[in-house]
Order: sequence, then C-alpha cells, then structure tokens
Amino acid sequence: IGVIGGGFVGSTTAQRLAEKELGDVVLVDIVEGMPQGKALDLSQAGPVCGYDSCVTGANDYASLAGADLVIITAGMPRKPGMDRSDLLKINGEIQQKVVSGIMEYAPEATLVIVSNPLDVMCFVAHQVSGLPKNKVVGMAGVLDTARYRTFIAMELGCSHKDIQAMVLGGHGDSMVPLTSTASVSGIPVQQLISPERLEELVHRTRHGGAEIVNLLKTGSAYFAPSASAVAMAESILLDQKRVLPCCSLLDGQYGIDDTWVGVPAVLGANGVEKILEVELNKTELDALQSSASSVHEGQGEVA
Ligand code: NAI
Ligand code: 2OP
Repeated sequence: IGVIGGGFVGSTTAQRLAEKELGDVVLVDIVEGMPQGKALDLSQAGPVCGYDSCVTGANDYASLAGADLVIITAGMPRKPGMDRSDLLKINGEIQQKVVSGIMEYAPEATLVIVSNPLDVMCFVAHQVSGLPKNKVVGMAGVLDTARYRTFIAMELGCSHKDIQAMVLGGHGDSMVPLTSTASVSGIPVQQLISPERLEELVHRTRHGGAEIVNLLKTGSAYFAPSASAVAMAESILLDQKRVLPCCSLLDGQYGIDDTWVGVPAVLGANGVEKILEVELNKTELDALQSSASSVHEGQGEVA
C-alpha cells in the first residue's frame, strides 16, 4: 500500500494501515529523510503494538512497484492571499506529478484521493492515470458523514454507533448532509430533532473542516481524515463491499454528467463497484446538482 505525502494525514494514515496489518506500507514524500524517518519510527512501534507490517519511506516511486492501492495525501494547504483557483493550480500540478510517478511503477493500483480540493483532484488523477473510473475514488463523504453522525449523537446524547446518515456532494460548503434518510436505529432523526436544530447540525457539518482549522490555527484535521481513508482502503483491500459515500465519476446518475462528486457507492476489490441511486427529496437533489455544478466549474479550470 502506498501513501503519498508524509504530512499529518499521510503519516497517520500509514500508522493506521500498519496497526491494522492491511499490508506493507510505503510512505513517499518530497522532503528528504522525512518519510524514511517516519517509516522507521512506525516500524519501531511494531514490537510495542504487536504489528508485523513492514513500513518503509522513500522520495521516489520505485518502491511502489506492485502496490495494490495508493492513497494520495500530497498537497499544499491554502495560504493567506491565495484564492481557490491558485490552490487548484498548485495542487493540480502536484497531483499530476504524483499520479504520473505512481503509474510508472504501480499501474494496477487503485487510487484513493485525499488531497484538496478533493473532487477536482479526483478529476485530475483520473485524467492523468488513464485508469478506468472505478479504480479512482475520493475520500470526503466518509469524513463529512462521520462529522454529521458525531453531531447527531452529541445532540441526542446517544452512541454514534446507532446513527445512520450520509453526506453527499462536493467536499466544501455546498456538501449535502441528507436529513430525509438520517436515522437512529431506524428511527428517522426528523422525529427526534426539531427542523431548526437539525438545520444547525447540517450547517456545523458543512463547516466541520473549517471549525477544526480555526481551532488548530496551523493546519487542518487529520485523525478523522486518516481513519476515513483507511476505512475505504480496508473495504477495497478486503473486498468488504461496504456502502460508503465516495467521490466518483458520474455519468447520468442523479441527473449529473461528467463530474466527480460524492454519492453512495459499493466499495470492493474492483474499487467503486456500483453507484447507488437513492431517492432524495427535491431540496436534496437540487442541492446535489448545484454542488456538482461548482465541481464541474473547477474541473474546467484545471482541464
Ligand atoms: P501536510 O502539509 O501536513 O502534508 C502534505 C505533505 O505533502 C507534505 O509533507 C508535503 O511535503 C507533501 N508533498 C507536497 N508535494 C508533494 C509531492 N509532489 N510529492 C510527494 N509529497 C508531496 O497536509 P495534511 O494535513 O497531511 O493534508 C494533506 C492534504 O489532504 C491537503 O491537501 C488537505 O487539504 C487534504 N485533506 C483532505 C481531506 C478530505 O476530506 N479529502 C481531509 C483532510 C485533509
Ligand atoms: C477537512 O474537511 C481540510 O478537507 C479538510 O478537514
């Protein structure tokens, strides 16, 4: 399993993969010595934690030869004075280099994209790799859904284990936390939470990433993002066929074409094996289509 980018998300992803013994892990970053140092540290945690995964670090892609799956976390966060299209351009170029490097040595790998702006980075990865669309998938919905489930559980004072919910759409302010299908052990949340309060939880979910950025001040979330990327990796590597919200290429589903956006999907050994078209109410469908149009605009900027 390759992990590209050895920063906060990449290194915690490598740690979780090793602890779950999902495979041997190669951590790649452009910073000399850093991925090697983190990999050695993670290897030395093995005897204490009881895992046998082999973790190595590298500054090039040769050690990815034969990788089944590669998680891409390389990228730059938005800096003061930089607008959205500057970030699209910079991270688009990084994504291009990274995906070309991976394809040279691991052309059979399934790609799980984490780098932001997530949906457009999936578009770039798919274009550059030439992989079939089912072998490229983006992580955002699993994280956004985890945030939504956390907030519902906090509101009800119950276990998040019993909250079923899903967040669709692009990974940004236009994401669509579904209220019509959210439930607690099968009880619609709309019976337990007032519409006004539920709207506040939806709003908090939409701004869940920014809430953490504002608290941390330097950098963004990484514990829940790495857990989410590893849940997707596990479903692919172990062919679990979990139904997860995944950023996938739509060709007509939900009335959306040629756009990478988060939808419920079956994730297994063949990557995105099936996109599920669930019934949404009109407000949710309109919101999903509008979220997809802003992603489509971003795709146009890097195409
Ligand atoms: P970070 O700054 O800690 O790590 C990024 C790493 O990428 C750095 O170590 C940097 O050296 C490396 N890098 C830059 N260019 C590279 C290249 N060409 N090849 C290999 N490595 C390269 O950032 P962090 O917190 O790990 O976040 C990583 C990315 O994930 C960001 O774009 C962030 O916005 C995104 N993210 C996405 C989430 C999602 O839900 N999709 C959630 C959390 C973060
Ligand atoms: C998040 O949602 C920054 O995309 C990242 O935490």
